[in-house]
Amino acid sequence: MKTSKIPGLGRFGLFIDDLHYKDITPELWNEIATLYLDNLVVIIRDCDFTLAQFEELTLRWGDGTSTFLVNITKKYGFTDVFQFADNMAKLDLTDEEKQWFRAVDKVKATDIDPEKAAAVRVTSRRDENGDFTGMFPDGELLWHANESGNFLFAPSVVFYGYEDIVGSSTGFLTTTDWYEEQTESFRSELDDMILVHSFTKNRFTPELSEDEQQVIIKNNMCPERCELPMVMQSPGGIKGLHYTITSTVSGIKGATDSEFKKITDSINETLFVDKYIYDHWYTSRDLCFFDNTISLHRRQGDLSKGRLGYRIQHNLRYIQRVDSLYLKEPWKSQYIKEVNEMNNILGFNDARFPAFNSY
Ligand SMILES: [Fe+2]
Repeated sequence: MKTSKIPGLGRFGLFIDDLHYKDITPELWNEIATLYLDNLVVIIRDCDFTLAQFEELTLRWGDGTSTFLVNITKKYGFTDVFQFADNMAKLDLTDEEKQWFRAVDKVKATDIDPEKAAAVRVTSRRDENGDFTGMFPDGELLWHANESGNFLFAPSVVFYGYEDIVGSSTGFLTTTDWYEEQTESFRSELDDMILVHSFTKNRFTPELSEDEQQVIIKNNMCPERCELPMVMQSPGGIKGLHYTITSTVSGIKGATDSEFKKITDSINETLFVDKYIYDHWYTSRDLCFFDNTISLHRRQGDLSKGRLGYRIQHNLRYIQRVDSLYLKEPWKSQYIKEVNEMNNILGFNDARFPAFNSY
């Protein structure tokens, strides 16, 4: 295995080359976990993992997560998601909830295991009826973090650029170096800043035409108005900004619209610059692990060849160094309490989710 610094991304980002599945021991996979916690973005280039191996290795670090599944399990009074799935046919689900399950069942990576999956397909490929078979079938995706307007958002994402991926990119932005370069007084303002998140259709998916996809995206990203601190820490304990300004951030608590615009315009001018960004244009079957707490990601390029990737949103509960992503009370303790509850609802049975085909 060889490692080298990814250009951009401040002091973060690591390429891994010449890694083969046959060489992966538990010790080596732990070593890569440490590299990931320290580097926020790790890209294993020319990866030879099968899809099942990719899922299994990812889930050694933590469970697949979904805020929607936690919320709906609780709403209907069940203690875990499998109980919910077994009973869902008897429930009076709302039309939007049914639509979410129908859409998610189409994108779930049952090509890895027909019974249960942690991964979803991300692809422009369509089935014989012209229906989508993956998340985000169309167009560019602007800077965002998955589930960003949720208190219990997934702290990590892995994307396996699997087939017909050349000509497209996944881009990353890290915020820590920018944060550390600010004056002490502005940093302390940022530390106290609370961002208001809300969902607006097509805001970060400008070219996405499918209505069903909008239902998944809204319920995953930010189902209702939500307030979260601007500054938090990654599972590895690195402090930075949870700043999804082109996807769900719509205000600063206590600031007028014009103050919000003035502050965010000035942040954007110095944050969205080359030294903190790296766009990974795929040249081979590459596996990208990326932080979803204090980092943003985006997609550019051509999907017309039938680009196919697999994505898992997950936590890092078996390797993380901190108890809470939130640094200040009451967020910090509340997170520890709620994430435990979340782990009880989702985190067992390999942390892969069942098929929801009984609505
Ligand atoms: Fe994403």
